[in-house]
Amino acid sequence: MPTSGAGQDAKLLQKLHRAVIFLGPPGAGKGTQAQELARKYGVPHLSTGDMLREHIAKSTPLGLLAKPMMERGELVADSIILKIVADRIESPDCSFGFVFDGFPRTAAQAQWLGELLKQHGFKQPVVVHFAIDPALLLRRITGRRLCKTGGEIYNIYDRAPKVPGICDADGGELIQRPDDREEVVGPRLEGYRKLTAPLTAYYRRLGRLQDVDAAKSVEEVTQRVLEIVRTAR
Ligand code: AP5
Repeated sequence: MPTSGAGQDAKLLQKLHRAVIFLGPPGAGKGTQAQELARKYGVPHLSTGDMLREHIAKSTPLGLLAKPMMERGELVADSIILKIVADRIESPDCSFGFVFDGFPRTAAQAQWLGELLKQHGFKQPVVVHFAIDPALLLRRITGRRLCKTGGEIYNIYDRAPKVPGICDADGGELIQRPDDREEVVGPRLEGYRKLTAPLTAYYRRLGRLQDVDAAKSVEEVTQRVLEIVRTAR
């Protein structure tokens, strides 16, 4: 779930003043790390996947449109995503920066975002690329469980809750995403390879991309991400 950041450390918060973009294939660990970084800096975690799932849960017109596409593992149209993101970053809690998880995902989204960040006077974004062998992703995706209320992320194989099916943080029910079924993973990875992976070259050319070895433990990845954000120019 997108967290609305209640500032935990005013100095960190003011220093950020930029977008941090997490780029990487499904299951690479973007959401897990985005929750952590957003908590640390007290800024919002903007997950376009979570925003779409909220629309679906409320059966909004947009949710009804997006649901079949997401269930097939396809990307949702740029026009829909850009509208959601534009509305969200107008909120006052976004004025010190935010962590994007799952956005941008196409060349058009990346170009649009570049303009928007300029207009809002943010510093250049930090783009963290979660590099990982695709062979590791199936286990991560099919083992993932999410807290229905708070959005905490678990994995039944590697990061299991203390009580099966129950969130350690708030006692909420743990559920599986419909697009985490094995048969949907292939199309999602293929969509990433065709449409999103080329953005790594785009941000590298702009000198904004930093790689993280996403096969390492959650704690090791967190340390590397914090280092990248702390030392970004
Ligand atoms: P979205 O919700 O963004 O999903 P995704 O990008 O496919 O990424 P995931 O959420 O699957 O993985 P993650 O990298 O966040 O991994 P996580 O941290 O959970 O998008 C869903 C759909 O919405 C898209 O398919 C599309 O239809 C639509 N959509 C969204 N944004 C869009 C956009 N901009 N444009 C168009 N359409 C859009 O971790 C995975 C598992 O691994 C967890 O169980 C976790 O506990 C475990 N784990 C994490 N890190 C580690 C580690 N280091 N070691 C071991 N296990 C780990």
